Amino acid sequence: MDLLEFVRGCTFDDFLLTPQYGVLPRRDPDAVDLSARFSQHLTLKRPIVSANMDTVTRAAMAVVLAEEGGLGVIDRGFRSGDIEPQVTEIAAVKRTQHGTIGDPHTIGAQQPLKDAVRLMQRTGVGTLVVVDANRRLAGLLTERDVRFVPLDALVAERMTPRAALVVHTGPISLADAERVMRTHKIKKLPLVDADGTLIGLITAKDLIKHRQHPFATRDGEGRLRVGGAVGATGDYLERAAELLRAGADVLVVDIAHGHSAVMARAIEQIRKHCGDVELVAGNVATAEGALFLRDRGVNAIKVGIGPGGGCSTRLTTNFGIPQAEALVRCRQAIGDAVPLIADGGIRRDGGIAEALVFGGDTVMLGSAFAGTEETPGEVVLKSVLMPESQKIVQVPFKVFRGMASIGAIKDRLDLEDADAGELEAIGAEGLEVSVPARGSVRGVIHNMLKHLCSAISYGGARSLQELQQAFRVSPERYLVRLSDASQKESFQR
Ligand code: XMP
Repeated sequence: MDLLEFVRGCTFDDFLLTPQYGVLPRRDPDAVDLSARFSQHLTLKRPIVSANMDTVTRAAMAVVLAEEGGLGVIDRGFRSGDIEPQVTEIAAVKRTQHGTIGDPHTIGAQQPLKDAVRLMQRTGVGTLVVVDANRRLAGLLTERDVRFVPLDALVAERMTPRAALVVHTGPISLADAERVMRTHKIKKLPLVDADGTLIGLITAKDLIKHRQHPFATRDGEGRLRVGGAVGATGDYLERAAELLRAGADVLVVDIAHGHSAVMARAIEQIRKHCGDVELVAGNVATAEGALFLRDRGVNAIKVGIGPGGGCSTRLTTNFGIPQAEALVRCRQAIGDAVPLIADGGIRRDGGIAEALVFGGDTVMLGSAFAGTEETPGEVVLKSVLMPESQKIVQVPFKVFRGMASIGAIKDRLDLEDADAGELEAIGAEGLEVSVPARGSVRGVIHNMLKHLCSAISYGGARSLQELQQAFRVSPERYLVRLSDASQKESFQR
C-alpha cells in the first residue's frame, strides 16, 4: 500500500482500524508498555503531552501530566519581556517533589529564630537544615520548634541537635533511604560527607510520592520534569535562558509556521546561547518542514498546522494539511531519526491511537483537557436552558482559547487599550470558547490510557511500540477508509 496516497486529504475521522487477533492478557495501563520517545534524549512512560496554551498548561497541569508519566509544556502566554511568571510556573513544578534534595534550605545555628521563621514563610518549607559556619550539619529545625517561643532566641537553642538525629554519611539510594526511615521511624534523613558537611536531604513525603506515581516523568534528582515554550522573536533568548535556569527540562520553540526563516534563526541562536539543551521545534506539516527542522538539529518536531480545537488558521488562511496526512508525510520523511509530537486535532480518545500509528511518537492535547480543574482561569457560572425540562440552570464554565485568539494576543501584548481595528490588523488565528468546567485531569488521562490499552489489544499488539511497528510494516491490514454513512455510524452518537 502507498500509505501517503491512501491518507491524502484525510484525517482521524476518515478511518477506522481493523481489529486483529488479540494477544494482550490485560488491558491495564499499569501492565502494558506505553513508553514513547518525547524527544531524542527524553523517553516518557506514557505518550501524553499537554499543550503549551495559556488556558491549558500551567504548573498544576504540568505536575499531573508528569506524575502520570507524560509531560506538560508551560505556555509563553505572558506579556512580552515579562519572563518571571513563566519562570515561577516552571520552578513550582520542579519544587513539588524530589528524590534527594541536593540543596535543601539551610539556616545558621547562630542566627535568631526570626530569620528561620521568615525563611520558612518565604519558601513554604517546614523543616530547615541547621548548619555551622562551614556548612557542617548542626541539626534540624521544624515549624513546631519555633512555635510559642521568643523569636530572638537562637536557632541552636531550639533545634534538634545532630547528636539526636539519624544521619547518613555519603549518597544513598531511595530504596535504602526508605529502609532507614522505616527502621528509625523518622521523616527526614540528612546526608553528610565524611567531614560532616551537608550534602543533601531526603524526606518521607517525597518517597511516598515516588511510590504513589511509579510511572512519573522525573529528572536525575527525582524532580518532576517540565517543558517551557518560547517564541522565535522578541524576548525568546532571555526567556530560554531563564527557563533553563529555573530547571526546565525541555525548550519548545513554538510558532505557527515552523518551516520559516524566523525559525531557522531562532534555532541557531538558541543553540549558540543555550548549548545542547533538549530542543523541540514546530509546527510543521510537510516532509520539507520536518527535514528542515531535523537538519537544524532539533531533538523533536511538533507536527500540526491548523487541526487544533482552538485554531482558526485554516478558516482564515486556507493553509494547512489534514492531520493524518501531515503525520504520515513527516514520519515518512524523517524515519525514526527525530521523534514527532502529533499536535492538535484529537477530539476523541480513539484519535490518540490513530495519531500514534500515523506517525506521532507522542500526542499533544489542548482542548481534550479544557475545563478540567488543573487548567488556569476562573470558573464562571452561566445560565443554560435545559432542552428537556425547559428550565434555566446555572452551569460552571471555563474559557478555552487558541494562543492566536484575540483574547490571548491581547493579554500577551498588553493591548488592553487597543481599539478593535488595531486588533483585527494583528490577524488572529485562534478561537475563544466556553467549555463546561469538570473534575481533575487525572481522571481524563486515566481514561485515555485505558482506551489506548484497549486499542493496542484490538490491534493485536502487546505494547504501544509493537502496535506502531505492526502498522508501519503493513498499514493495509489496519486501515479502513470510511464513507459518510460509516463515519456517522462510527462517530455520531
Ligand atoms: P487541540 O486540538 O488538542 O490542539 O486543542 C492543541 C494545539 O492547537 C494549536 N493551537 C493553535 N493553532 N491558532 C492555531 O492555528 C491558535 O490560536 C492556536 N492555539 C493553539 C497548538 O499547536 C496546540 O498545541
